[in-house]
Amino acid sequence: MLEKQLLHIAQEFGSPVYVYDSEKIISQYNRLTQAFSKVKNLRINYAVKALSNISILKLLKGLGSGLDTVSIQEVKLGLMAGVAPENIIYTPNGVSLEEIETAAKLGVQINIDNLSILEQFGTKYPNVPVCIRINPHVMAGGNTNISVGHIDSKFGISIHQIPHILRIVENTEMTINGIHMHTGSDILDIDVFLYASEILFDTAKHFSNLEFLDFGSGFKVPYKEGDIETNIEEFGKKLTKRFNQFCKEYGKELTLAFEPGKFLVSEAGYFLTKVNVVKQTTSTVFAQVDSGFNHLIRPMLYGAQHNIINVSNPKGRERFYSVVGYICETDTFANNRRINEISEDDILAFKNAGAYCYSMASNYNSRYRPAEVLWHNSEAKLIRKRETMDDLVKNQVAVEL
Ligand SMILES: Cc1ncc(COP(=O)(O)O)c(C=O)c1O
Repeated sequence: MLEKQLLHIAQEFGSPVYVYDSEKIISQYNRLTQAFSKVKNLRINYAVKALSNISILKLLKGLGSGLDTVSIQEVKLGLMAGVAPENIIYTPNGVSLEEIETAAKLGVQINIDNLSILEQFGTKYPNVPVCIRINPHVMAGGNTNISVGHIDSKFGISIHQIPHILRIVENTEMTINGIHMHTGSDILDIDVFLYASEILFDTAKHFSNLEFLDFGSGFKVPYKEGDIETNIEEFGKKLTKRFNQFCKEYGKELTLAFEPGKFLVSEAGYFLTKVNVVKQTTSTVFAQVDSGFNHLIRPMLYGAQHNIINVSNPKGRERFYSVVGYICETDTFANNRRINEISEDDILAFKNAGAYCYSMASNYNSRYRPAEVLWHNSEAKLIRKRETMDDLVKNQVAVEL
């Protein structure tokens, strides 16, 4: 999006505000499906956790996407967006049997990642086909918080426990219709994906009623200037060849599924904030914005780097700034960043604000969560109102003291 469009949106809707460019979401979706165009049955299940606004889910549904969900609430959001239950996969971790039963009754594809629930669910519902999430024991991902397929991770059923899975399946007479893995996020090296895929193929050979193989996600997108990204096109060519060969060996045209979050929405998002104060100290110049890690936690949580641009002064002289928020503890978005000269009231845009930004926002410091705007067909549409004082207190119960 152009700087002047972002500036207009901040002027029209106020700040802080999240903006999503539908064109970028569409082009990323098309890029991924194009990379796998030689797979007969391809399914993209957008990972709702990345950005769960219903209008975004509707946009993706319109493109032909299904959904990957991790909570019963995400399942319900998907259904509210009009996505058919059979196009929703539910991949929870460590939830109760009751929650999984509720999801099964709504008709979504269940994906189970532990032996205890597999046995209980299979015993009660032998006629509901289930997908199994394996733990391939592969260390991959941009940082430890988002590396989830290694031996010490809580996710998935170990590939060393396949005999136990098979025993449960035999005893309960349940049907396993899919095998799934997700090894982490921000994975650059396609050889890591291909290596883990071999483990998925090896696992799949043990199950005779499969309909799909789900390779999860974790594609890396560029965050910083000059950053490299997962080469989706090359990965598409290599995995397609291997997948089609596996289907021949297996004797059935299976569906190849992915569940990308970041790849589809990260670069489509911008977070617009206003500079309240420019503060010179003995060591730096702080630009203090009208937001904080309550609205965008990734820099403080993961050390994530979001590019920041000054959309009010895009041609100004570049200077060095530490961009910080208003939360009453260390609240740093960026240190020593080269940004076009900043004045108070300027609007700063944080890039890559589509994935894991609004969806991780909170009310910490009793601040309102921001508004969300969709930039679609050259028009800015409000898709979530900024919260108000009523939202902060609506569930509080005042007692007589
Ligand atoms: C099970 C599962 N699938 C898909 C995703 C999406 O990953 P990404 O945003 O890296 O594409 C995640 C992210 O945490 C996940 O846990």
